[in-house]
Amino acid sequence: MIFGRVKSLDAIMATAEKKGLHRTLGGFQLTMLGIGAVIGTGIFVLTSEAAQKAGPGMMLSFVVAGFVCAVAALCYSELASMVPVSGSAYTYTYAVMGELLAWMVGWALILEYAVGASAVAVGWSNYAVGLLRNGLGVDFPSIISNADGLNARVLLALGSDATPDLLKAVEVGGWINIPAIFIALMVTWLLVIGTTESARVNAVLVAIKIAALTLFVALTIPVMKGQNFEPFMPTGGAGVLGAAASIFFAYVGFDAVSTAAEETKNPQRNVPIGLIASLLICTIFYLLVAAGAIGAIGAQPEMGAAGVPLAPGSAEMAGRCASLVAGGALEPLVCSKEALAHVLREIGWSKVGNLLGIAAFLALPSVVLMMMFGQTRVFFTMARDGLLPEKLASVHPRYRTPHVVTIVTGCAAAVAAALLPVGKLADYSNSGTLFAFFMVAISVLVLRKTDPGRKRPFRTPLVWVIAPLAMVGCLGLYISLPLTAILVLPVWGAVGLLIYFGYSRRRSHVGRGLDGVPELDADAPPLPVPPLPGAPTPGGKQA
Ligand code: ALA
Repeated sequence: MIFGRVKSLDAIMATAEKKGLHRTLGGFQLTMLGIGAVIGTGIFVLTSEAAQKAGPGMMLSFVVAGFVCAVAALCYSELASMVPVSGSAYTYTYAVMGELLAWMVGWALILEYAVGASAVAVGWSNYAVGLLRNGLGVDFPSIISNADGLNARVLLALGSDATPDLLKAVEVGGWINIPAIFIALMVTWLLVIGTTESARVNAVLVAIKIAALTLFVALTIPVMKGQNFEPFMPTGGAGVLGAAASIFFAYVGFDAVSTAAEETKNPQRNVPIGLIASLLICTIFYLLVAAGAIGAIGAQPEMGAAGVPLAPGSAEMAGRCASLVAGGALEPLVCSKEALAHVLREIGWSKVGNLLGIAAFLALPSVVLMMMFGQTRVFFTMARDGLLPEKLASVHPRYRTPHVVTIVTGCAAAVAAALLPVGKLADYSNSGTLFAFFMVAISVLVLRKTDPGRKRPFRTPLVWVIAPLAMVGCLGLYISLPLTAILVLPVWGAVGLLIYFGYSRRRSHVGRGLDGVPELDADAPPLPVPPLPGAPTPGGKQA
């Protein structure tokens, strides 16, 4: 039965109470947390991919993606204020629609967080390589700083036409992205030794990102030229939607605010504030940055055969860009791997471009960290419910962190980052995220019907309009993703179902009637501080 095994909301709340994480975060810190998790590779790197799909029309794409996130955030807020516990969409779905769908959401969140972390790692790699070249004059070898050549060879081996673009990608493209592996493993190590980002470090990084984007806007808006916006929608409405589906990645992360609900003071008030304020601030910045980038240097797509734009991130696109630059042309925005720094260099602000590069270099690792951290939290909650092996979530005796799951996640993210381009990774991550958001929107509606009397400190306004809009929006963006990204979700979901029916269903605590029983090792959240000598660890052992 699909909707069986619902976890009672009261049991969830009781478990959260017992765990007693310290409630330290306020509305302002949550907003900073949200901005810290949201601004990253999406705006710094994927702006060029969005331009390749939609041209100047990508401004509309930012609005569309922002709108879908806003209505989803309103739904998130109602649930996060009612159920202020870790686990986010997974926990809400468990309480409302039962274990099977909750498992599917948790499984999809792995795509969001782990694959998302690899996407940001590749974005960081692009900026690191660009900074070395433009700032220090050091050319990091292309052969080990991207996997374009490898992907081109795979396509040729699979029978793709040997177009000049593809052959060029084979000639100049790389095999593996070493800087991306480096940062993914570095962050994994930091998480294993118990580094969680302190509110202070986060605040500094948020300030750096906001300062970099503000500087970008201040330097580009005055040199905007009207003709750079023409033609505005060279690829039509479909191009705008396709770009919206990809650039949606730029907004992902705001849900980290709701995963922190358990550590929030007065979550009923502060979680909705954190979610909505961070989203609003990011949307305003994104629109200004997009306008500045397009207005300053233009943003027309590179077309392939039959007048169809080349797929951003594809080997053909990499080959085309290499040919353009080899032919002496200035690198267009759609080709740049470090879009914002590139725009500044093109308009004569090379040094400021490098400064912006430094900002991205410093700030993007924290986005990787947040995403991997979110992943470990979801794993923890699933292990607490018995759906994942407790061993997987075992706690390191010294560092008191979930080292096994962190290392597994980190290695998987490093492999993906080594071999795939940033745009593809972002699209795969989006397919999982859109599914999770869709389920949250349904959950709000179902809960209004099944449990209308429960206290709702934050009520989604016009819920019968907003939640369906969120559902339609998520579905619309999902079907606008490239075909491979669309297929990733059902394939990933099928693997998840095999694991659920082969393993998790029998071990589920709710299924075994253990709902609300005392904590297991796996319940312990990763703690940032090392234990005092002699203090009991979450596993009951002495440190
Ligand atoms: N929104 C985050 C980024 O763009 C994931 O990097």
